[in-house]
Amino acid sequence: MIGELEGKVAFVTGAAGGIGLGLARAFAEAGMKVALADIDGALLAESVAELEQSGGRVLAVPLDVVDRSAWREAAQMVEGKLGPVQLLCNNAGVSTLGMPFDTVEPHVWDKVVAINLTGVYNGVHTFLGGMRAAGGGHIVNTSSIGGMLASADLSPYVATKFAVVGLSEALRKELAGLGIGVSVLCPGAVRSRLWRTSRPIRGLPDIDTPPDDLSGQSGRASGMDPYEVGLRVVDGVRSNQPYIFTHAQYKASFADRFQAILAGVDRAAAFALPKQLRD
Ligand SMILES: NC(=O)c1ccc[n+]([C@@H]2O[C@H](COP(=O)([O-])OP(=O)(O)OC[C@H]3O[C@@H](n4cnc5c(N)ncnc54)[C@H](O)[C@@H]3O)[C@@H](O)[C@H]2O)c1
Repeated sequence: MIGELEGKVAFVTGAAGGIGLGLARAFAEAGMKVALADIDGALLAESVAELEQSGGRVLAVPLDVVDRSAWREAAQMVEGKLGPVQLLCNNAGVSTLGMPFDTVEPHVWDKVVAINLTGVYNGVHTFLGGMRAAGGGHIVNTSSIGGMLASADLSPYVATKFAVVGLSEALRKELAGLGIGVSVLCPGAVRSRLWRTSRPIRGLPDIDTPPDDLSGQSGRASGMDPYEVGLRVVDGVRSNQPYIFTHAQYKASFADRFQAILAGVDRAAAFALPKQLRD
């Protein structure tokens, strides 16, 4: 759909660190011009400077994905400096790992939905018109393995990441005829700062170094190198893959989930209606 990546423009949110920076690095190495957007302006400046030093054609874009007027300004800035955006990666997100449902206050729910789901809508809404006018493009939305397989004590994250899978599948069907590809990225554990960037959402004070016990923390201090995720996404975009997974070990859990769904469908077929409704 997007064809050759060389010389084209990518826009990546949540790109100051972690997976977003891994995507930006891989796109820059593939010859793309890359706009890196993030709410953390200081870290963003450092990361962009680092990519520039290694020869990347990159641009820092301060952006809160929840702020629609900031999206419009970001698009104008990027289109003015780099050209029309052909690859959009809605990657910014926060986690609620270790939060039982009864600790999820309404303001936490609203914030997670705003960043993880509405932030994706805002990105697509901002750039779809340009891709449509250009006759093609590609959108990658970052969900998670948690957007395919539910876990306890993670309900706002799971709900929003399942929604990102659904939104991506619907868009893929809707936009295929316009030459616009859509992929959903579903990573397993990836090394990032999600444990830290999600602390305010969980009502925890900021800290510099990962705590020894991350079991109740949001995100990972260990896991796959984000650059490896970036390489997998470059491959997925080039071949317009609907699903980009990073870890293969969840296959049995997928089979269990599909089995449970099929069993539910079979029960619908076998359901014995009361006699008066059968006649
Ligand atoms: N790390 C993992 O193991 C893992 C696994 C599955 C999915 N993910 C998903 O990957 C994506 C990236 O997370 P990461 O693990 O690289 O964490 P990260 O914290 O290193 O990166 C997320 C970035 O998003 C930015 N951000 C947060 N709120 C924002 C907002 N409102 N507007 C703009 N930027 C904002 C943060 O400043 C941060 O730089 C998230 O959507 C996350 O849910 C991560």
